Amino acid sequence: MKLLEVLNGAKAWPPPAWLMRQAGRYLPEYRELRSQAGDFLSLCTNPELAAEVTLQPIRRYGFDAAILFSDILILPWALGQDLRFAEGEGPLLPPLQSRAELAKLDPARAISGTAPIMETVRRVKAGLPSETALIGFAGSPFTVACYMLDGKGGAKAGNEFPRTRLLCFEDRALVEGVIELLTETTITYLQAQVDAGADCVMLFESWSGILTSSLFRDFVIAPTKRIVTALKAKNPRLHIIGFPRHCGLMLAEYVTATGITAVGLDSVTDAVTAIAACPPGTVFQGNLDPLLLRLGGEPLTQGIKAVLNGFRGQSHIFNLGHGITPDVKPEAIALLMDTIRAA
Ligand code: CP3
Repeated sequence: MKLLEVLNGAKAWPPPAWLMRQAGRYLPEYRELRSQAGDFLSLCTNPELAAEVTLQPIRRYGFDAAILFSDILILPWALGQDLRFAEGEGPLLPPLQSRAELAKLDPARAISGTAPIMETVRRVKAGLPSETALIGFAGSPFTVACYMLDGKGGAKAGNEFPRTRLLCFEDRALVEGVIELLTETTITYLQAQVDAGADCVMLFESWSGILTSSLFRDFVIAPTKRIVTALKAKNPRLHIIGFPRHCGLMLAEYVTATGITAVGLDSVTDAVTAIAACPPGTVFQGNLDPLLLRLGGEPLTQGIKAVLNGFRGQSHIFNLGHGITPDVKPEAIALLMDTIRAA
């Protein structure tokens, strides 16, 4: 599998490619199955439909990897926190109020509550071509904690997750408690995905950019290092991709201190800066701006070439800097894959 070779440190030209949110509302066949399932959570917990949705973009575009179709909030939901996805609003959870409420969440449910997800992993693995890698994933503890403590995303830029950020100072023990529970259960949850057939795993740290450097070390680097160390102790050859979105100057420290195999880059971090900052031999994943997919045509092909050339000579996995949005035309993704293959 080309993706695993690059994660092992090989350099491939053209690089292997997959895209965050490659399954989703921009695809008519997804919208069709999604309407059959009812709500998004029912789709995630229906192994037959979730496996089908995972495979849809592989059939259409032949990506080098499939990513399990699920969500980072499945873990807190499995542990016992209510979750619903309101149409057009994103996830809604009742914000955790206290350590007493936190204590009601049950770590044992990281296995029993996620059984349908493991069934999806087994089905996808059985349905994938042998050259296509299967990526399992979880949210990183801090990013998942943001949703558990604020109850929703989507606050205005610069004031994301206001309650979580205040709690870091007001009731740090509560934040630490949530992160502790998530660190332990994420290890169990990802190990179960590996046992069910995931070829590698990815940690989504979408909100790492809202922390000060000091809090980033405590709430991002330390838990990530624990997860990576525990998983590698059990699976020495397992590859773990970290995605510390918008982490800015903390990038190199994140890569060196956590021990992750590869780092996913957001679109605002250009190749020259990332390569200069990170130790030689770092494996990069990224980082086309998904906005260009809405434009298509020449701006898109130029953007793709800039990413390809920027990381040429490095171990690189082509991806976006964030997920595909629902307004993208399926033809834009076909153009993207053609451009990469012709490079
Ligand atoms: O990438 C993939 O194709 C795999 C599946 C996947 C989803 N969410 C499916 C999804 C993955 C890896 C995620 C991760 C995720 N979920 C993150 C981290 C990555 C990021 O985007 O920063 C976050 C923060 C979430 C939480 C979440 N889930 C939000 C904020 C939303 C609403 C956004 C939206 O587009 O509506 C979701 C819902 C969600 N997760 C959808 C999909 C396909 C849309 C659901 C639908 O069909 O209505």
